[in-house]
Formats: sequence, C-alpha cells, structure tokens
Amino acid sequence: MSLKGKDLVSIRDLTKEEIFYILERAEDMLPYAKGEKRTTALKGKILATLFFEPSTRTKLSFETAMHRLGGDVIGFSEPTMTSIRKGETLADTIRVVDSYSDIIVIRHSLEGSARLAADFAESPVINAGDGAGRHPTQCLLDLFTILKEKGRIEGLKVALVGDLKYGRTVHSLAYALALLGADLIFVSPETLRMPKEIIRDCQDLGAEPKSLTNLERAVRDVDVIYVTRIQKERFPDPTEYNRVVGSYRIDSELLQHARDDVIVMHPLPRVNEIDPEIDGTRHAVYFKQAFYGIPVRMAILSSLLGVSVE
Ligand code: NCD
Repeated sequence: MSLKGKDLVSIRDLTKEEIFYILERAEDMLPYAKGEKRTTALKGKILATLFFEPSTRTKLSFETAMHRLGGDVIGFSEPTMTSIRKGETLADTIRVVDSYSDIIVIRHSLEGSARLAADFAESPVINAGDGAGRHPTQCLLDLFTILKEKGRIEGLKVALVGDLKYGRTVHSLAYALALLGADLIFVSPETLRMPKEIIRDCQDLGAEPKSLTNLERAVRDVDVIYVTRIQKERFPDPTEYNRVVGSYRIDSELLQHARDDVIVMHPLPRVNEIDPEIDGTRHAVYFKQAFYGIPVRMAILSSLLGVSVE
C-alpha cells in the first residue's frame, strides 16, 4: 500500500485499510519512538509546522517524530511574528512554505483552513486541527491507544464525553470508531451535543450511537471513556461556557459504576475533567496516549513521504 503524496485533512481521507496500515506502521515505529533504535530514513526532508493556534503535544510530537526519523523541522507557533501580521493571506503563506519544505503540518482556528492549504500546496498537508472541525492525527493516535490497550476496536463500547459540539478530536474519532465497528455513546450537556451531520455519518456507516446527558448511566457498561475539555475558546458567549463548565468529572466515585477494566482517555490538555486521583490507577491511559503521538506521527510522516523505515 502507498500513501505517498496524500494529504491528511480529515480521517475520511483514509479507508479502513489505510487506517490499519498506518496503525501497523506505528507499531513498527515504537522502538525508534522510544529511542531504542535509530534511523535516518527522512534525512534531507523538511517538515514545516504552521501553528496559528496554541499547541503543546501536537506540535512537539510532530517535531519529535521528524527528529527521530532523521529529518529537519522549520515552522512557527506565534503567527503574530510572521507576515500574516502584515496582512498576508493563508494561501500565499502556504505557497511559499510549500517551496521551502517537503511536508506541511497546519493548525488554524478556521474550519476548512487545512483543506485550503492542501489545495495550494504540492506537498502533503496534514491537518493538526482546524477550529471545531477535524483532528485526524489525534484520531489515529486515539485508535492506536485503544488497540494497544484493548487489542481490538470492533464491538467495543466507547463513551465520548464532554464538549461534543466544538471538540474536533471527537468529531474525527466518532467517524473512525463507527467505520471500524465500535458501539458509540455520546455524553454531553444538551447544548454541546454531537453535530447532527456527524451522527448521520456514523449512522450511514451502520452505527447506532446513543446520546445521553447522564454520565453515571453512560459509563456502566463501556470499555472506554474518552473525556474532552469544554472548548472555552470556541464559545461565542462566555455565559454559555460558565453554564456548562464542570458538567462532568471523572473520579473514583464515578468509576465505581464502571467496569473494572475500563480505560479513561483524554486528548489533553485537561482542565478539571479528570480528578488527579485517577492518574495512578490502571484506568488512566492519557499520558501513554500522548506518548503514542510520537510513533503514530512517525508512521504518518514516513507514509505520506513514501519512505520506508528500516
Ligand atoms: C486537542 C485539540 O487541540 O483539539 N488537543 C490536542 O491536540 N491534544 C484537545 C483540546 O484542545 O481540548
């Protein structure tokens, strides 16, 4: 299978087979990601990281992934220090960065920005989050984490909890889990429900997602609880945010209602959604999940660049 030259703007850009191909390559990357083995497979290749919005894990893990593969990185995370401040359009920025690099990662507050970048760039463009839109690389590392922890995805019961309206990670993950045959439960305040078009997409894939507001009821029989932050920066009205903040919190009291082997995931950053008392328990996999960003992004970079890693 070859993904050479492809863009990764949405998880819908990948077939089931392509998703599993990347997850298998990610497994191969693990010893390199941990620094146990070394490679220079991407020597001479340049990754450009364009972060118009804040990021810790996504940016640093893409950079680490590129370095672990022997490649180089250019980029910015403070767009006010670039010519965008002078009024340059995104299209012009992309055209130029395209000529400086071999592959581009972009995070931007506007939905559709990564698709626009992909239209203007010859090189592969990877969407690292476009507003409340999509976050396909997070989705792949989420799937990788579930596979590592549970050994399968098909038939698992997964609860997606929190801000399902503005959370881009759950938009991508809901689609992928439906595609791969998981059972979905969407748990959110009424005002932060999963967008209708994503529910419809899941249904078109044969899934029958349930929507609930009561977390305690929802977690009873699930294999995975995937918690998200309320996306404060996306709320047009701060009083709306204040009304829903703190709606859900995962603590040991709640987990008494869940299965013994339930895993708790979170794309991070967490604000108050998970009590730190969970961190040391067998349920907590969110820090491992963040580490898996390295092998998964190594797999993505090498696959889109068409380079095999020996
Ligand atoms: C997420 C994002 O940026 O969408 N973070 C991440 O990439 N790990 C989740 C969030 O910001 O809440």
